[in-house]
Amino acid sequence: MTYREDVEGLDASILMHPRVWQASGHVENFTDPMIDCKQCKARYRLDTLGEQINDKKRKKAVMALLENEELKTKIDKITADIEDNGEKFEALLEDEVVSEALLKELSCPNCGTKGEFTPPRSFNLMFKTFLGPVDKEGNVIYLRPETAQGIFVNFLNVQGASRQKLPFGIAQIGKAFRNEINTKNFLFRTREFEQMEMQFFVKPEDDKKWYDHWKELRLEWYNNLGMTPEKLRYHDHPADKLAHYAKEAVDIEYEFPFGWGEIEGIHNRTDFDLGRHQEYSGKSQKYFDEESKEKFVPFIIETSAGASRSFMAFLVDAYREEEVKGETRTVLGLHPKLAPIKAAIFPLVNKDGMPELARKIEADLRPYLRVFFDDKGAVGRRYRRMDEAGTPFCITVDTQSLEDNTVTVRERDSMNQERINADNLLIYLLEKLR
Ligand code: GAP
Repeated sequence: MTYREDVEGLDASILMHPRVWQASGHVENFTDPMIDCKQCKARYRLDTLGEQINDKKRKKAVMALLENEELKTKIDKITADIEDNGEKFEALLEDEVVSEALLKELSCPNCGTKGEFTPPRSFNLMFKTFLGPVDKEGNVIYLRPETAQGIFVNFLNVQGASRQKLPFGIAQIGKAFRNEINTKNFLFRTREFEQMEMQFFVKPEDDKKWYDHWKELRLEWYNNLGMTPEKLRYHDHPADKLAHYAKEAVDIEYEFPFGWGEIEGIHNRTDFDLGRHQEYSGKSQKYFDEESKEKFVPFIIETSAGASRSFMAFLVDAYREEEVKGETRTVLGLHPKLAPIKAAIFPLVNKDGMPELARKIEADLRPYLRVFFDDKGAVGRRYRRMDEAGTPFCITVDTQSLEDNTVTVRERDSMNQERINADNLLIYLLEKLR
């Protein structure tokens, strides 16, 4: 957040006034369609049911429907522009008539009973709790399902305190909670997760310019942090699939081992959010433009990334096993900026003053960088442990170090070693980590 002078940081509340979630539309609209198996009572999200049924069974169910001329015409129309079979199936589940017919042909993934599902019902994904000691309806509050709303309601506080002028952004990283029915794929879909969101406030006439700007910049961010470019793509939302608040929207997707999945969404949210908070709070959310002397509600371009979900993408992208001198080396090739440990320090042997010099180097670096001291086992094994943890640099103190104060610095990916004066290590590492 310190990289840009036009973006301020914020840490807003997790529990906010319930009217915030009425204004945002979450109380009314943040729902998933759920169905239950009448036999075993297992509950499923209708829109993702297909993911739990294998390809062969899905095809069989659709084939049965194709025998009905009317349904066939409908199915052909729905799937005409969709290439991926999984996506086709999801689109069919979205159509009321087709999904009702499909549910009669599908079996419960849990108990195998065919066609015994309840009709879909809306299930709100917000976690509820109660304010104060009495658990009654009027005391209900919600755990935030996104960090964005904390930014909207603080827009004028932050703008006034920071003296920012349009265009500018407010960003925050924080926990979000959703009562997901089907959590899956490790960090991909969890009930408690970390978001990193930014709302960029612009003049309404500049919305397209800033939407395009952030769309490009956010993809670059993943590329610059070393993610494989071929495993990243945009998925533009077609006009008829846009969320109720969006004028334009795109997802950045990553190709996980289980398929393509969204890691970030970029939306042109127009003046919807500030307009709604203005309406529900009765407080003006207008910005005063000193140049034009006009007052107006700004438009918002949102960049909304999952910190935990994109971390998982970085993790799977970085993992590799390779052959080195007849042995398998496991490497977490994380970009140095993402590596949890920036440098490891090893005394070659535990005698002759080497541990003391290594400890001194560790103490000198620790205030600036996360470093790790390791004196256990052969140096080769210490290198391997650090390769696995993604540590980009290993510093070894050896006999020569005691004579001329130089150390070897070994780089994780190339495994090349350089001799550096220990006094220059901090500058050397900061340069490399930049
Ligand atoms: N403010 C807009 C918003 O929250 P979203 O598409 O619902 O949009 C944004 O969420 C990002 O948050 C997603 O791209 C994803 O990376 C992450 N995310 C959403 N639900 C998640 C979950 N259940 N588990 C992990 N990450 C999730």
